[in-house]
Amino acid sequence: MNPPDAGARALAQAFLEQTLSAEGNALMLEHATREEVVRRLASAGRAARGGAGTPGARTSPDAAATGPKIAEAPDLETLAALVASCSRCTLHESRKNPVFGEGAADARVVCVGEAPGAREDETGRPFVGRAGHLLDRLLMSIGLPRTSVYICNVLKSRPPRNRDPLPEEVAACAPYLLRQLALIEPEVIIAFGAFAARTLLETKSALGRLRGTVHHYSGYPVVATYHPAALLRNPGWTRPTWEDLQIVRRMLDGVGDREARIG
Ligand code: URA
Repeated sequence: MNPPDAGARALAQAFLEQTLSAEGNALMLEHATREEVVRRLASAGRAARGGAGTPGARTSPDAAATGPKIAEAPDLETLAALVASCSRCTLHESRKNPVFGEGAADARVVCVGEAPGAREDETGRPFVGRAGHLLDRLLMSIGLPRTSVYICNVLKSRPPRNRDPLPEEVAACAPYLLRQLALIEPEVIIAFGAFAARTLLETKSALGRLRGTVHHYSGYPVVATYHPAALLRNPGWTRPTWEDLQIVRRMLDGVGDREARIG
């Protein structure tokens, strides 16, 4: 937390509390006058907006907390800026770059993976390593060029050494994914891998039990399938993955959820 902002907030609280009963101009706490409180609040406000007259100045994590709320971000750019200055969990300390997500803002399909890996952390882009190239090919198999969909992850920062995301990291990042979905309003979400599927569907079920049908997350249809990285290790899962993607294709072609699913 940025100390001057914290100080200004505490002072503001004291100011408001004392104003309820205060007489005279001087505030007892910190021996500040009302003018001093107003000056420090104004200075904290400028810092929260990126610095007085300094376009593009980096906002502090504390400033981000006082900026537009995640759920109220009016567009993806604003939301990405919130992710860039986010400190809701400790992963911002070890990451090289936030990986917000990329693609068409009006995409019919949103692909959700687990978390950025090393290559994604380097570049700030989702699914750009070997698994990403396979993802591109899988999407093309149902007539969806990468640029036509939106690609993101449950976590927007890489966990150190690609360890499993922690529950508190997932909880901290979830509002960003929810807002991304609310802004894009996809027709279908594809959850790639057990982690994304279990997180979105709030279940501990094995991916093998979740795939092959249509679920829902926050009102959006979800098709769960194998992660491209898992396919690289187990090419035998390519066929079921392709079948899952056919469900997506059928849904985009206007076939209802029930008819689109396998079997
Ligand atoms: N694996 C993921 O789940 N996401 C990425 O962005 C890259 C690899």
